[in-house]
Amino acid sequence: MATERRQIKTASLADTLGVIAKVALPTLAKGIFVRRPKVVALSAMLNLDQRAVERLQALREKYPGGPVLLPIPGRPQAILLQDEDVERVLSDTEVFMPATAEKISALRHFEPHVSLLSRGTDRERRRRFNGELLEEGCPIHPMATAFMKVVQEEMTAIVAEAGGKLDWDTFVPAWYRIVRRVVLGDGARDDDQLTDELEKLRSAANWALLHPRRDKLNERFHEHLQQHLSRAEPGSLAARLATLPQSEDTQVTDQVAHYLFAFDPAGMTAFRTLTLLTAHPQTLIRARAEAQERQNALQDLPFLRACVLECLRLYPTTPTIFRETSEEVEWEGGTLPANTHILIFAPFFHRNEALREDAHRFNPDGWLGAQPDTRLPLVPFSAGPGVCPARHLVPMLASAAVAQILTQAEVELLEPRLSPQEPLPATLDNFSTSFRLRRL
Ligand code: HEM
Repeated sequence: MATERRQIKTASLADTLGVIAKVALPTLAKGIFVRRPKVVALSAMLNLDQRAVERLQALREKYPGGPVLLPIPGRPQAILLQDEDVERVLSDTEVFMPATAEKISALRHFEPHVSLLSRGTDRERRRRFNGELLEEGCPIHPMATAFMKVVQEEMTAIVAEAGGKLDWDTFVPAWYRIVRRVVLGDGARDDDQLTDELEKLRSAANWALLHPRRDKLNERFHEHLQQHLSRAEPGSLAARLATLPQSEDTQVTDQVAHYLFAFDPAGMTAFRTLTLLTAHPQTLIRARAEAQERQNALQDLPFLRACVLECLRLYPTTPTIFRETSEEVEWEGGTLPANTHILIFAPFFHRNEALREDAHRFNPDGWLGAQPDTRLPLVPFSAGPGVCPARHLVPMLASAAVAQILTQAEVELLEPRLSPQEPLPATLDNFSTSFRLRRL
């Protein structure tokens, strides 16, 4: 007699609505692809990020064991609440595909062929291309010397020009200049239009299918990008890219569009790392000493990189990692059907005081000597075959930017008020953060 298949535990309607209201909607409202400053401020004020973690804590207590299925009509979602489930899902991109229908509907607005949305041999080729260009296994990118010159010039310039006060609006244009120079070369330094075009497309992506495709703008943006790439300017990723094996299938401008987009949260992380450091005087002393000692080798700052990774643990810029099952999967608690959407909510694992003693403390030492993708269930850059290929490049550039500011100025945090004795807030609103700078 055939035994009946058991499905994994299914949440009640009330619990499902609770997760939608407290986890999914606030995350979507903040903007997945471009943050909405007003909603970020509201989220900080109402402590919504903390509420989301608490909602999932309650879910884990009520449904102990493996994943919990939220029976959303037409699109069941499984939410992972156990460390070992995160490890299992991230270790296999064939069964647990990164190219989910939701990601495709959002990112089709500006990068429909990026590796993240690709499947089969297309995914393999594009993923390899990105990994080789970004030197994913290498803590110090081979072009680091050229990149460090760019970071030093731009960060020195903002300290000189900031007029004693640094805030997000002063920092971000300088960060974008770094990004365009690193990716496309000095010829793109002042091309704000390129960044603006991408920002409009990213805003459309925030609405996924609810926003019509802006095909003309997208075409213009990709042509614009191609013009910059054609220069293959020495010292930029564009030059290195030109030397890699590629074909039409590589869809190079889609991959590069993703780099430009993904460098935005890297800038947020650099800025938040500076915030955390200035709120923790003892840690700041260590960071500044390292920065001063290694002024001519900013690509190699172990402690400051640990600070960047810890900042991403506290404030993950990709808080939700999505996967989709390509086939039925057996779990201890039952079966997960094919085409189930899977959600890993990183703050649940990163900021859960029931699971980690240092949940709300800035503790960079935990990352010293560790790789960005080996402290599961901490997944700031994800892990496994779908891990971020820029997991070393981002901490390298962000730590260098922070170091350069620290060698140029005394930095005092004005807003927000943070104390090393108090638990850190669940949201760190970079848009309203400001510092006083005194040039050294
Ligand atoms: C703070 C900065 C960044 C963070 C936290 C981050 C994090 C992540 C995460 C979590 C993923 C997996 C996403 C998923 O599975 O849905 C990912 C994928 C990816 N990231 Fe990043 N990323 C950052 C910056 C960058 C930058 C600057 C680049 C390029 C220069 C980049 C290139 C990529 C690519 C190409 C993928 C897709 C990988 C694949 O197809 O398997 N990321 N990133």
